[in-house]
Amino acid sequence: MKNFISVKDVSDINALVAKALAYKANPFADRNLGADKKIGLLFLNPSLRTRLSTQVAAKNLGLEAIVFNVDKEGWALEFEDGAIMSGTTVEHVKDAAPILGQYFDVLCIRAFPSLQNKNDDYSELVMRSFVQFAGVPIVSLESATLHPLQSLTDIITIKEQMLQVPPLGGGGGKPKIVLTWAPHIKPLPQCVANSFAQWVNAWGEADFVITHPEDYELDEQFTKGATITQNQDEALKDADFVYVKNWSTVTDYGKIYCNDPSWMLTPEKLKHSNNAKVMHCLPVRRNVELSDEILDGANSLVTTQAGNRVWAVQAVLAEILKAK
Ligand code: CP
Repeated sequence: MKNFISVKDVSDINALVAKALAYKANPFADRNLGADKKIGLLFLNPSLRTRLSTQVAAKNLGLEAIVFNVDKEGWALEFEDGAIMSGTTVEHVKDAAPILGQYFDVLCIRAFPSLQNKNDDYSELVMRSFVQFAGVPIVSLESATLHPLQSLTDIITIKEQMLQVPPLGGGGGKPKIVLTWAPHIKPLPQCVANSFAQWVNAWGEADFVITHPEDYELDEQFTKGATITQNQDEALKDADFVYVKNWSTVTDYGKIYCNDPSWMLTPEKLKHSNNAKVMHCLPVRRNVELSDEILDGANSLVTTQAGNRVWAVQAVLAEILKAK
């Protein structure tokens, strides 16, 4: 693996999932793989899980991880080619990225979308610039449109459940996975939803349904292959896994239209599911996106999911180190 920006960088999803689960069983199997190597973790936005799970995974592989909170401690970066830098930006990515490429063997970057201009965000300018100018492998810690480490974790978590609870898909049948929109007080990026849809579709081992209110259609480049409905009750029927996530509007970009609280997932809504397990990437707004009863209930996978972030990124870093 050269870079890890999207599912397109993965040749065999099941093999990567198996590798991650093997690390979960034996975290230090490759404790010397990263000896004498360094990864740089660049954060243009906040993080709890992504930052710490990557640091833990790096340690398990013998890698040194150095965190740089660019948003708080670095120069404001410019990404536009040919920009006249007479405004607030201080350093062009063309100048900064090759230097970082000399300091680190792998660069990991988190850069959220602006939610102001869809074309700018969906062109993935920040991630593309680092790939172009750094000269070392790039790992996305969440970009303007995608969150591949989260999605790999999500598939790992689903697969792990399927192995533990046969015949849930384990008997040859496909699990029913539902991605449902949830209310939120702020307009959020589409990254997690886009990425989850892209990975589940590429994985191809599920009956995949996406449900959201009118006007919350995701970009078809990620959802193609899924069944899409605005009837949440219908979508949840017979579900094995329900992934809950808010996202802002895509067409009239970055807005909140409907914020109907009745879209919040509750135990009542799951009564016609197949005793569905509930997933969320976290952080979660309790009793806005998801009820306390669900989050604190036996069917919540959110803590397991967050724990699995370590094994996902460890598998990715190992693949990149082996390919170098
Ligand atoms: N799910 C996730 O990416 O969490 P953080 O934003 O805390 O890293």
